[in-house]
Amino acid sequence: MQRTYTVDRHAIPAHMDVGRIRRDFPVLGKKIEGKPPIYFDNACQTLRPRQVIEAVSEYYESFPACAGRSVHKLATEVSLRCDDVRAKAAAFFGADDPSEIAFMKNTTEGLNTVIMGLPWRKGDEVVTTDYEHNSVHVPVLRARDSFQLKHRTIKSGDDVTFDLSAFEEGMSRKVRLVAVCLTSNVTGCTIPAKEVVDIAHSYGAKVLLDAAQAAPSMGIDVRRLGVDFLAASAHKMLGPSGVGLFYARSGSVGDLPPVMCGGHGVVDTTYDSYKLLPPPERFETGLQNYSGIIGTGAALDYLSSIGMDEVRDHEIALNSRITRALRGVDGVELLGPSDPNLRSGIFSFNVRGLSPHDVAMILDNSRNIMMRSGMHCCHPLFHALGIEGCARASVYIYNTPQEADLFSESVEGLAEGFKGRKR
Ligand code: ALA
Repeated sequence: MQRTYTVDRHAIPAHMDVGRIRRDFPVLGKKIEGKPPIYFDNACQTLRPRQVIEAVSEYYESFPACAGRSVHKLATEVSLRCDDVRAKAAAFFGADDPSEIAFMKNTTEGLNTVIMGLPWRKGDEVVTTDYEHNSVHVPVLRARDSFQLKHRTIKSGDDVTFDLSAFEEGMSRKVRLVAVCLTSNVTGCTIPAKEVVDIAHSYGAKVLLDAAQAAPSMGIDVRRLGVDFLAASAHKMLGPSGVGLFYARSGSVGDLPPVMCGGHGVVDTTYDSYKLLPPPERFETGLQNYSGIIGTGAALDYLSSIGMDEVRDHEIALNSRITRALRGVDGVELLGPSDPNLRSGIFSFNVRGLSPHDVAMILDNSRNIMMRSGMHCCHPLFHALGIEGCARASVYIYNTPQEADLFSESVEGLAEGFKGRKR
């Protein structure tokens, strides 16, 4: 069958031409209640370019069949395209082999696969930071209770940054798994992953990186890092929702079982036995999200055509502009380190006298500035900080300096307007 999916490379910006990039995102051309949207909720999920939307539609229009099962032409086309995306994802993350990449539902599924699936022994230890997303934290607590493990959290510094010395001090030969976020979805800060992996390995522990927030913002090279497992989600990196990318190093994966068993992940079954396929198929139980996987391929193409260093530089440039404008503004309290170079595209903050949800709602109502507010699925961190959450502005490749300035002016106006207000 003719392969018509190939992304129109001429339509993809070679570099950070924001004006051109914006034209690829249909929603940015629309008015919402008479005004253009200022989308600053990219850490929750990014917008999708038409290349991704077209790739998803093409699946439904041209080969809406199943991969890896039937032998007819449409099914073969889907299988080939999914293989192609697997190879792209392996290249994107620097994996040795496409078989080290499995398609899942989201980051959470990959994290659960490792945290619940390792061959734990009673008394083993698992180490996390004190600012993990619940998708690491909750399965770790569950594994702790199910397998009688010990859970140790590494206390971060006052500015909620990773403390490498505290991590090293907390390590011992009892630690079996270090499960940490590569980039925090609250502060945008990234851990020194290579050092963490090397230290963990020197104690015989495996490392699982929650890369949901890192994968959209920086180049990741799993081979260079030597990491054992890594999980990310397509919806934060221009791809469709409902697709997770799970990396399991071939030398580390062993007999790790899938979270779910059923169709497709097995070599053979009898009335009283089953034999799982090797990775990645064993992790891809049941019918998959083929349109999502194919759309993910288009998203990876899009990001690769820009270059992850450019993506990162753009995020930091906008974040620096926002940080400069709001630094020293009375009533604006930044969460995380003051240096924007450490916070990728994330500016998390509170306005004294207002709840985080009030801040987000006022900016949405008045300026169409869309952000997330609350505890960002990191409840333990906010409980420890003794605050009810924060508002979080997160920028991406299509955001502009003008939007950043409008945001800063609006936040400054809010802080001025509510100065002295007690809640
Ligand atoms: N983890 C996602 C966020 O930070 C949902 O918004």
